[in-house]
Amino acid sequence: MKTITVALANTPYKIYVGEQLICAKNRLLQPLAMGKDVFVLSNKTVYQAHGKKLHAFLSAHGLRAYVHLVGDSETSKSLRSAISVLQAIVRFDRQKDVSLVAFGGGVIGDLAGFCASIYKRGIPLIHIPTTLLAQVDASIGGKTAVDLPQGKNLIGSFYQPKAVLSDATFLKTLPTPQLACGLAEVVKYGIIKDVTLFSFIEQNYHALLLADSAALSHVIEQASRIKAKIVTQDERETRSIRTILNFGHTIGHALEAAGNYRRYNHGQAVALGMLCAADISAQLGLMPAATVRRIETLLANLTLPVQIKHISLNTILSYQFRDKKFSGKTNRWVLISGRIGRVCVKQNIPLAIIRAAVAKRMASV
Ligand SMILES: NC(=O)c1ccc[n+]([C@@H]2O[C@H](COP(=O)([O-])OP(=O)(O)OC[C@H]3O[C@@H](n4cnc5c(N)ncnc54)[C@H](O)[C@@H]3O)[C@@H](O)[C@H]2O)c1
Ligand SMILES: [Zn+2]
Repeated sequence: MKTITVALANTPYKIYVGEQLICAKNRLLQPLAMGKDVFVLSNKTVYQAHGKKLHAFLSAHGLRAYVHLVGDSETSKSLRSAISVLQAIVRFDRQKDVSLVAFGGGVIGDLAGFCASIYKRGIPLIHIPTTLLAQVDASIGGKTAVDLPQGKNLIGSFYQPKAVLSDATFLKTLPTPQLACGLAEVVKYGIIKDVTLFSFIEQNYHALLLADSAALSHVIEQASRIKAKIVTQDERETRSIRTILNFGHTIGHALEAAGNYRRYNHGQAVALGMLCAADISAQLGLMPAATVRRIETLLANLTLPVQIKHISLNTILSYQFRDKKFSGKTNRWVLISGRIGRVCVKQNIPLAIIRAAVAKRMASV
């Protein structure tokens, strides 16, 4: 097991990463200041697959657990379901010392985090993420959110958990497209900060896609270290340091929205977005064109898309220009600076360069 400290001044916490972490012999919650009651938020898919392990783990701590399941989709990240979760917590919280355990992917993590942050102005929150995306991204950094019909993540708070427990063995039941989605984010961490991580994925993509727990543990640990360091330096996203986590997300978000959140999942959209950002970096002479091909090969090996299909160039660009970062000529991009593992932030990229980068990704059929 590896331990990473998120060294925030007021709310430091530990991330534990490993295989078979969630079992009766690991008393990882013991050092935490929490009462005897835990409210577990999960969904049917996750709880049916891994609920027994969680139950044994919590029982071994002498905790009394109440399990609340919400529907298995992004629509559970709503104010309506937050209210029903909060009402269920009130019913369970008879001893007035309840903690919340988020047991699932990023949807569960965001909803649980939001509820934990507002119930009685904040109760202890423990993340036990079960998707790769939630392990390397959503459960670290304290962003919580629910959606509004007008847009994703419009309501939320910053609220740090007491601990994050990332067990790579949970990923054995994750469908491959979901695993690949998380791997796209891990590739992102490699590109922005760590060429060794990028090379590890190049050499081990097959094992990673087969959910090999040792290989996954390694990348979860490395990615978590990178995110932990970045959020420690910029907890509330006020110092522009967190900006580099948006590498590949500028076009990525436009693609997700243009595809009505159905055509591409988040990781697929980010994979295409990273290729566009890499292409822009090459067009500006910031890095060699061969690096774009290296990234493309890796993403294709990870079964991620490298060509945009079924959405027109103009639709993508129009979605992108709706973004508040794109008013007139003003835009801001995270680009690769010289080599994989180093990025820079550039403003006012000419629209012709952006257009050419996206156009190159359009499939001819
Ligand atoms: N707070 C943040 O900083 C942050 C960062 C990134 C993403 N997010 C949010 O995370 C959400 C996406 O998270 P996600 O990609 O984990 O999706 P998700 O939570 O919808 O999970 C994906 C699917 O996998 C299933 N699943 C989860 N664990 C499983 C397992 N071990 N075995 C089998 N199936 C399993 C889920 O039931 C679901 O059907 C979005 O709402 C996004 O906005 C938040
Ligand atoms: Zn992302």
